[in-house]
Amino acid sequence: MHRRIIAPGALAAASLLLAIPASAASHSPGAPGIGDPYHPNYGNGGYDVSHYDLRLQYQPKTDELRGTATILARTTQDLSSFDLDFLLDVSEVRVNGAKASFATSGQHELVVTPKTPLDKGTPVTVVVRYSGVPSTKSAYGFSTWHRTPDGAVAADEPEAAWWWFPSNDHPSDKATYDVSVSVPDGTQAISNGTLQSTSSKLGWTRYTWRQNKPQATYLATLALGRFDITTGTSDGGVPVINAYSKDLGDNDGAARASVERTGELVDWLSGYFGPYPFASAGGYVPNTTTGYALETQTRVYYSPKQFANGSNPSVVVHELAHQWYGDDVSLKRWKDIWINEGFARYAQWLWSEHEGEGTAQELADYVYASHPADDAFWTVAPGDPGADNQFDAAVYDRGAAAIQALRNAIGDDAFFRILKGWPQRHAYSNASVADFVKYAEQVSGKPLSALFDTWLFEPAKPAASSARALVKAGATAAQPKSWKKIEATNDVHGH
Ligand code: TRP
Ligand code: ZN
Repeated sequence: MHRRIIAPGALAAASLLLAIPASAASHSPGAPGIGDPYHPNYGNGGYDVSHYDLRLQYQPKTDELRGTATILARTTQDLSSFDLDFLLDVSEVRVNGAKASFATSGQHELVVTPKTPLDKGTPVTVVVRYSGVPSTKSAYGFSTWHRTPDGAVAADEPEAAWWWFPSNDHPSDKATYDVSVSVPDGTQAISNGTLQSTSSKLGWTRYTWRQNKPQATYLATLALGRFDITTGTSDGGVPVINAYSKDLGDNDGAARASVERTGELVDWLSGYFGPYPFASAGGYVPNTTTGYALETQTRVYYSPKQFANGSNPSVVVHELAHQWYGDDVSLKRWKDIWINEGFARYAQWLWSEHEGEGTAQELADYVYASHPADDAFWTVAPGDPGADNQFDAAVYDRGAAAIQALRNAIGDDAFFRILKGWPQRHAYSNASVADFVKYAEQVSGKPLSALFDTWLFEPAKPAASSARALVKAGATAAQPKSWKKIEATNDVHGH
């Protein structure tokens, strides 16, 4: 800092400058990415969204989606412009009521320049009018908009939102949602939360959904097609809404026999994780051809293939476990994926134990014994697996074995207090792997960084000594009965 003596003339010029509306001198463009090491361009800098209001119309015959997104946000810096992540064709953008200029940039950026720069810490309302055929759009050479014979589905991870609404597309910026979609009579529109209303007019039916708890953008889902919708309430009082494509063929029975158990399984999981965090639960099974399931908030996405070999309550347990581990408590950065997948997989181990198909210990033993030390499996560190290995089997299986190692180290009492306490500790928010380690140390009163380093961060097979009650290196363990169905859950085929 150095002082300057200002000449009288310069002073007059300076006050003239002040009279001009705040300019690029103090206001700068928001970053095109939120700062995620795995996905540098995902999300955006400079603002924080609190609510998305999406009023849409969809024509299944042509895959045309059109509508208006109204985004409520607050600035976190002085902004001359800011980005949204989006791929469809934009016709108009308004910021705080005034028409803004806009341009596309990079793979999925919509750069918005408001007429008047935005001051830090102020509320902003952004209205985006758009249309387009999502199936014709791609970024980085891929598309995750899944066309079906009678409609389409938006459900993918981490990339799903770009094809249907403009957003700050990163789990660290969670928001509430109102999603209202008009579809031709006979077609249904499925989304997150509770169905507020349906109304029909001139051959079109409008479905209005509300998600009243914070939700990450990748957990927002939209399914359009011919569905049979079922409703109910769990013993524990959680309203359940499920939907099944009318085109599930031979998989229809097994799909229903699995997903109709949602209420029972939500109540069962509440025993381990505490009260269910959302206003409704449920799932939908569209007629897609992909192999995976996804923990879309309150309305889980299941591929029919998950039920091709019969019913599979284990996959339902996995996705419902994510409602606490992943959806209620979301990751801070994508490298924290173990916060989601390690625990969802561990919930399947608890279910296996409950069903008498193999204890969590037996499953951990099997993971340990079935991968020899030179298996590439051990080179992926679940605590920071790398962008290309985010959904590697190691994140799930070694990730769950790490949780069993924790259980063995601290005993059941502290362990189950942690499982139940964590969702309360970070309710409706975000947390990192480091936050979990800290919390486990706090609750158990034990130093645990060595254990977690070994199990989550070392790119090598943990020594038998650090495996504690896990089997000795080189030993063989019998494959637990539940193994195959559990493994089918993370059958991620990429894009
Ligand atoms: N999170 C999903 C699960 O474990 C799996 C998953 C990973 C996925 N990547 C995906 C699902 C991509 C859909 C698309 O249940
Ligand atoms: Zn999962």
